[in-house]
Amino acid sequence: MEKINVKKADGKLGVLVVGVGGAVASTFVVGTLAVRKGLAKPIGSITQLANIRLGKKEENRFPKIKDVVPLADLNDIVFGGWDIFEDNVYEAAKHAEVLEQKDLDGVKDELVAIKPMKAAFLQEYVKRLHGTWVKEAGTKWDMMEQIREDIRNFKAKNNCSRLVVIWAASTEVYIPMSEVHMDLAKFEKAMKENSPEIAPSMLYSYAAISEGVPFINGAPALTVDMPAIWELSKQKNVPICGKDFKTGQTMMKTVLSPMLKTRMLGLSGWFSTNILGNRDGEVLDDPDSFKTKEVSKLSVIDTILEKDLYPELYSNIYHKVRINYYPPRKDNKEGWDNIDIYGWMGYPMQLKVDFLCRDSILAAPLCLDLVLLTDLAQRCGFSGIQKWLSFYFKSPMHTLETQPEHDLFVQYRMLKDKLRNIIGEESVEYID
Ligand SMILES: NC(=O)c1ccc[n+]([C@@H]2O[C@H](COP(=O)([O-])OP(=O)(O)OC[C@H]3O[C@@H](n4cnc5c(N)ncnc54)[C@H](O)[C@@H]3O)[C@@H](O)[C@H]2O)c1
Repeated sequence: MEKINVKKADGKLGVLVVGVGGAVASTFVVGTLAVRKGLAKPIGSITQLANIRLGKKEENRFPKIKDVVPLADLNDIVFGGWDIFEDNVYEAAKHAEVLEQKDLDGVKDELVAIKPMKAAFLQEYVKRLHGTWVKEAGTKWDMMEQIREDIRNFKAKNNCSRLVVIWAASTEVYIPMSEVHMDLAKFEKAMKENSPEIAPSMLYSYAAISEGVPFINGAPALTVDMPAIWELSKQKNVPICGKDFKTGQTMMKTVLSPMLKTRMLGLSGWFSTNILGNRDGEVLDDPDSFKTKEVSKLSVIDTILEKDLYPELYSNIYHKVRINYYPPRKDNKEGWDNIDIYGWMGYPMQLKVDFLCRDSILAAPLCLDLVLLTDLAQRCGFSGIQKWLSFYFKSPMHTLETQPEHDLFVQYRMLKDKLRNIIGEESVEYID
């Protein structure tokens, strides 16, 4: 196995978070700062906690990923970002009410110092929020140029050798892929002409990639998932990945569906509902933003179960997903699944899942892993869609000719095998 020539992770890594004042973003930032000070443990992070098998099984070599893969050191990370509200990250994290005061106190000075840059925001794309810290520009193209300038200034001011941009901002209204998203020249023209098909998230992705900065999309909107941006990322030699963090209910779906399929059990219905009371829940209460999320959440079962191969088991599934805004629960989402299955001779059975989770607690370690792995991808010289990062997403990006991989454990193997390849080790044929 030929070793990839990975550039060293020298110098500072700037992590620019779009929506840096949000629940996920602030939980990610607080946790990372606390971990590097030895005040908390990075539970849920593969890059920080998981081991990786190297060599033959009998060699019994199981080092930690972070000890053998050349990832950036957490001490070299500098945080920044944009938000539509002016609060620094300490104030924002207090407002999000995910973490306890004692956890904020340990890193208060660092949090207070992280002040968001003005956001590229347009009300019609997130109808429930009313931003007060937003850029003014004549055209969407001009707004994009301002983001490019922010990126350059941040890099220079903080003396960063590399940057990564991660979208952890609100879910925008549903925009289906259309003509302007198919081709880079049309996309650029559409920005200049203020086309409604260009959402603010696309301005961030275009700006970052144009500056040679990798882009991660944690929400379900198109953002980087379109041929125009794939083209740009290839041209600029920049890795991109997305979309929509796979954290709670969908993670369960991508574990339970393969289980049904491997046992040749039938599925007739899957009803998923959630109650959620944070700002994300409020935004998703708007039907146009919910539509974007719904499309992302619905796709997984069909792809995993392959109804064309197994029509007697999976050709007639009623699949419904609901998200209900319920303020008392704040970030502590409750997700119920009622799954109607059938077995031998068609006899019906039921599975019930009640996941009392914490949305941002599940999402934060994914942000850390994605930031470190996308930076690694860039230092490896990878560009375009990073399929090996599918593990982290509900709707893994894929080209128009290929199918996404949804099965969590297949995704996990893809991820670990890529890491083995990067350090010149052979793939293994099982999950380690
Ligand atoms: N928590 C999870 O488990 C999970 C899973 C998958 C996806 N997501 C997605 O992650 C995103 C963040 O979730 P959250 O719970 O932190 O939501 P949140 O509402 O707490 O945070 C979003 C932040 O983005 C800001 N924002 C909105 N538009 C912006 C723009 N154009 N530019 C800059 N900032 C902007 C908001 O002001 C807010 O501070 C949402 O899109 C959500 O759907 C979350």
